[in-house]
Amino acid sequence: MIDQYDREINYLRVSVTDRCNLRCTYCMPKQGISQIGHDDILRYEEILRICRIATGEGITKVRLTGGEPLTRRGLAEFVASLRTIPELKDISLTTNGILLEAHAEQLFAAGIRRINISLDSLNAEKYARITRGGDIHAVLRGIRKVREVGFAPIKINIVAISGFNDDEILDFARLTLANPYQIRFIELMPLGTAGAENDGRYLPNSVIRQRIETLGPLEALNGGRGKTEGPARIYRLPGGAGEIGFISPVSRHFCHSCNRLRLTAEGHLRACLLSDDETDLKGPLRAGRSDGEIGALIREVIARKPKRHEIACDEDHIKKCVKEMPAIGG
Ligand code: 5AD
Ligand code: SF4
Repeated sequence: MIDQYDREINYLRVSVTDRCNLRCTYCMPKQGISQIGHDDILRYEEILRICRIATGEGITKVRLTGGEPLTRRGLAEFVASLRTIPELKDISLTTNGILLEAHAEQLFAAGIRRINISLDSLNAEKYARITRGGDIHAVLRGIRKVREVGFAPIKINIVAISGFNDDEILDFARLTLANPYQIRFIELMPLGTAGAENDGRYLPNSVIRQRIETLGPLEALNGGRGKTEGPARIYRLPGGAGEIGFISPVSRHFCHSCNRLRLTAEGHLRACLLSDDETDLKGPLRAGRSDGEIGALIREVIARKPKRHEIACDEDHIKKCVKEMPAIGG
């Protein structure tokens, strides 16, 4: 479906759980995040039904996120059930990688090919610090495994944090010389209460790019727009096997080409990550509403999709969002 700003909305991000086995400092408060009760989380059959109805409204791609999606049991079986929806052309996964090694084969068999893995440092001690206790070796084993099993593309997401991982930019970039990964630098967004902890640690992608260019000229792939659609601007180092992507939600908002909706773990549909305007789908679903009625709700959400978010408007990082990232789906 085309929204009022002429954007084709065809992509649904689904948070299958708000829980996570890590607590990254920019994402989760140290403790005390409000967790949604078990009965308030959408059941897989409910997500499946919403996805099926959403394809009737033009959705062709679904990405599973969280929280950490691999902490929810039965994810691979759920993926297999999603594959029974013929209009769904693509099902992808975003994960922190901690449980990936064990799940990779099953996920591949279920039909996932495109995978995004978060990795904010290449140093074990720093990784443990930013994730509050995560084991980098588990993630590195997971990355090796998905490569062996045949996932492609394999995208590695780095949230750039001044004074934390800016000294690793070149190490990350060099990974693309010999490995077929897409290494993506994401600007730190001021979200939720966890945002406060990282105040002042935002690093614009322009700075990262300049540093990487000391390794060689960056060749823009598709004019720096994604090879596939999406907000990343994509480049390659001379002779590189992989790619380098920049996702700049703060310095260069990409709202004008935003094609997505988000389904939260508790079954609310959001048109924008950065707006708290949500529509409850779970209530109507459980109250026995028809597919047609749920479809009409989805159309209303699309019709209200805001033109753009506001955190990019000035450098003061106005805190717009009250909800935590893992509940919405990163
Ligand atoms: N700013 C930027 N990226 C974030 N993510 C989570 N919180 C933030 C934030 N405040 C990223 C994760 C992951 C993706 C799902 O979202 O690091 O790569
Ligand atoms: Fe978990 Fe991802 Fe948030 Fe880190 S960024 S705490 S891995 S949901």
